[in-house]
Amino acid sequence: MKKIFAILLLGVAIFSFAFNPPALADAAAGGAVFNANCASCHAGGRNLVQANKSLSKADLEKYGMNSIEAITNQVNNGKNAMPAFKGRLSDAQIQDVAAYVLSKSEAGW
Ligand code: HEC
Repeated sequence: MKKIFAILLLGVAIFSFAFNPPALADAAAGGAVFNANCASCHAGGRNLVQANKSLSKADLEKYGMNSIEAITNQVNNGKNAMPAFKGRLSDAQIQDVAAYVLSKSEAGW
């Protein structure tokens, strides 16, 4: 009986680790940040202000934006018609939203 309990506990531990990895960025949390701050211009991964700079995988690659570093940099500092979010979002939120954008672009939005 004790053994079964131990196995169960281990299972729960592995399960919560697998579905809640202590990663630096959390794409799921980034989804909420995206909807609140980015979707007005980037709904569905598009770019409503400057259509050629969408958040598709192809466009991110084309403009060298296909990394966490490049995206966090642009979100922090803004660029042309895109506002800067430094001070409005925490570093963690910016990391999360960058991870979200990358994972959605990989999945084709
Ligand atoms: C007011 C509209 C607006 C908002 C809000 C906005 N963006 Fe942008 N975004 C733009 C514009 C315009 C560009 C193109 C900038 C340029 O290169 O001139 C852009 C470009 C980008 C790019 C690069 C796309 C490419 O193909 O090169 C990324 C990544 C990005 N935005 C992410 C975000 C994220 C994440 C947020 C939310 C935190 C956000 N944006 C909020 C307007 C916006």
